Amino acid sequence: MEEKTFSLPLIGEKAPEFKAITTQGEINFPGDYKGSWVILFSHPADFTPVCTSEFMTFASMEKKFNEANCKLVGLSVDGLYSHIAWLRTIKEKIEYKGMKDVEVTFPLIEDITMEVSTKYGMLQPGESSTKAVRAVFFIDPKGIIRTIIYYPLSLGRNFEELYRVIIGLQTADAFSVALPADWQPGDDVIVPTAGSCGVAKERMEGKDDMTCYDWFFCTKKLDKEKVLKTVLKK
Ligand code: BEZ
Repeated sequence: MEEKTFSLPLIGEKAPEFKAITTQGEINFPGDYKGSWVILFSHPADFTPVCTSEFMTFASMEKKFNEANCKLVGLSVDGLYSHIAWLRTIKEKIEYKGMKDVEVTFPLIEDITMEVSTKYGMLQPGESSTKAVRAVFFIDPKGIIRTIIYYPLSLGRNFEELYRVIIGLQTADAFSVALPADWQPGDDVIVPTAGSCGVAKERMEGKDDMTCYDWFFCTKKLDKEKVLKTVLKK
């Protein structure tokens, strides 16, 4: 039997284009989102518990993401009427961890043909041959994929981490820095590695306003207010 191959779009590549029907009407992706960051994410199925907890959390945080110039777009291989019925049930019936009356106003793509989920490598047969895994694509205002995170069916996403990624990517871009492990706004940031022996020497002599752990590993302060003013325009 011929072996089926699966491909994934990669970080640094243009987000694959598609047209789709969603719970908020038709979208042209990523063209309709030019100028905004987008989180395009898949979930395995409507009317399932982990997905319900995730949609309630995402919807509750949507304003926060929008304030960081980031729009949300969901997808599953279920049909439009299933999506509508599920989102109505969430709003009308589900109360979870203090969240209730939650209205999902971001678009949820119907992908019964599996065209979009195939293009984005959201179908991973080792995990499920019929359902998308929990994929998260972070796409920048120019339509370039900047971060990809995958979770299996059995583990709900960490939404504080998804928010940290959006703030972190924008901070790294705006200030031309890199961000260390577990970085949060207000923490020190990493300055680009010295590109010459002279700069390496200067850094080790402590001439700049930096802390150097070695010539290739220097950090500097970046105020939380400066980060928030830049990313959230606050
Ligand atoms: C869930 O969202 O609860 C779920 C979906 C598919 C498989 C397992 C769990």
